[in-house]
Amino acid sequence: MNSENEFSILFNLNGDEIHYLGDPTRRLLNVLREDYHLTGVKEGCGEGECGACAILVDGHLYNSCLMMPYQINHKSVLTIEGFRDSKRFEIISRAFEAAGAVQCGFCTPGMVMATEALLRKNPHPLRDEIASFMSGNLCRCTGYDMIIKAVMIASEAGDGLW
Ligand code: FES
Ligand code: FES
Repeated sequence: MNSENEFSILFNLNGDEIHYLGDPTRRLLNVLREDYHLTGVKEGCGEGECGACAILVDGHLYNSCLMMPYQINHKSVLTIEGFRDSKRFEIISRAFEAAGAVQCGFCTPGMVMATEALLRKNPHPLRDEIASFMSGNLCRCTGYDMIIKAVMIASEAGDGLW
C-alpha cells in the first residue's frame, strides 16, 4: 500500500504485464474501461446479473462488475479485445453470425467470452449444458435458441481447438 487509497497490483492483461497503482476496491469493470480503454467490456446491469461485462480470469468466467483489482493480483485477465485475434474467436464469432445470434450486439462480447469459457471446460457440450452455462448471460434481442445453436456450431467447427 503506497498511500491510504493506493495499492500496487501486478497482472497480465490481454498478454501485457500491467502494474496497476490505485484504489484496490474500484470496480474492475471501470478500471478496464476507463484506465485501459477496453470498452468491449460492457456495463449492463452493473450487479452481476447480465454477463455483459464478462471476462476470463485465469481461464475462468467472471463478471467484472463484481470484481475489484486486488482480486486479479498476479492473475491473467482476458477481455474480448485480447481474444479477438485468435482462431477460436473467429470460429465463435462466425458461429454467432451464422446462427443469427447477434442483433443489437450489446450482449455479444460477454456471450463470446462465456462461449470460450464453456468450450475450454467442455469442448462438446450438450444442449442443456449450454443453456445452463449461458444462463448468466442475458440477451434482450435474440431469444436463446439462436445463442445455443451458435455455441453448438462453434463446438463443431472448432473441433480439436478447445
Ligand atoms: S454488468 Fe456485470 S453482470 Fe451485468
Ligand atoms: S443481441 Fe441485443 S442484447 Fe443480445
